[in-house]
Amino acid sequence: MEKMNAAVVTRFGEPPHYQPFDLPAPAAGEVLAEILAAGLHPRVRSGAAGSHYTSSGTLPMIPGIDGVGRLPDGKLVYFASDNDVLGTMADKALIDPRRSVELPAGADIARVAAAMNPAMSSWVALRRRVALQPGQSVLILGATGNAGTMAVQVARRLGAARVVGAGRDLSRLRALPALGADDVVQLTDDADATSEALAAAAAEADIVLDYLWGLPAQRAIMALLTARSDRSRPLDWIQIGAVAAPTIELPSVALRSANFRLQGSGQGSVSPRGYLAELPSLINEITAGTIKVTPRPVPLADVAAAWAASEPPGERIVLVP
Ligand SMILES: NC(=O)c1ccc[n+]([C@@H]2O[C@H](COP(=O)([O-])OP(=O)(O)OC[C@H]3O[C@@H](n4cnc5c(N)ncnc54)[C@H](OP(=O)(O)O)[C@@H]3O)[C@@H](O)[C@H]2O)c1
Repeated sequence: MEKMNAAVVTRFGEPPHYQPFDLPAPAAGEVLAEILAAGLHPRVRSGAAGSHYTSSGTLPMIPGIDGVGRLPDGKLVYFASDNDVLGTMADKALIDPRRSVELPAGADIARVAAAMNPAMSSWVALRRRVALQPGQSVLILGATGNAGTMAVQVARRLGAARVVGAGRDLSRLRALPALGADDVVQLTDDADATSEALAAAAAEADIVLDYLWGLPAQRAIMALLTARSDRSRPLDWIQIGAVAAPTIELPSVALRSANFRLQGSGQGSVSPRGYLAELPSLINEITAGTIKVTPRPVPLADVAAAWAASEPPGERIVLVP
């Protein structure tokens, strides 16, 4: 059996090891593409830990959910993979060419691999879950991470009149106005002060993009709803990430006393066809530089060390075979 090099998870809870792996055989409709770069996104980590909601628990597995690859015909493409056993962190990966998008000439491969997953979270939410109307006001809860920082830029690009970024890290919050935020709110352990600050900055928000969930979201929901001037005006809350905690307590009164509309955005709530339709326009934004991204290329052979390293704020590790 012909072999390739890959990042291989043999036990959940352990980082992947760089080792030989059987070259996968394409099924009908698939091709074997040469991988040029694959982003180490939080979603990749949860898949490799066997804890993502799409995980089948099969081992050994190759992590990686997307990447930039070269097809056998020479085309450079960005593609997403939903194969939770044979992922993209390898010399080669299986691609369904119909689920890939050709990169424009001169595209920066590492930037595309780093930015597509975090940027897509807000791009798809604001185009496929709740279509942002020009002039609306958006709060990003968890605006200091890669996805949240890009969400500030995406909301602005899609026509938001007011964008507020909320997060823990003050130095990263201070960088947001230069990227399009009108105001920022620091989330601290002082629940009352945080609620007051959120209410002052974002009580009239139309849409919240929530990357945190857990206590910060639980408190923010009540802070915004109680401070709203007109509670019958819709507040669309789009749940995207859960870096703070997987659950919240939601008082039923939140749903009765205000026009609070709670939904999520991710794999499943948006169809593969829906994601695919958004890829070309988002690739254009990223290659045009509308969305700031700082890739950190690391050789795939160093995957175990990359896994253990904490990502410098604002950077996204991209593994390069
Ligand atoms: N549904 C989708 O379509 C989709 C797509 C992409 C990503 N996501 C999800 O979005 C989330 C963020 O992804 P990312 O790529 O931006 O990750 P990231 O770059 O690692 O950012 C995570 C951020 O969360 C902050 N954070 C962690 N715990 C927090 C807490 N308790 N309160 C406030 N902030 C907290 C961290 O900031 P500090 O530690 O500096 O405060 C960090 O800036 C992940 O859950 C990811 O899975 C969802």
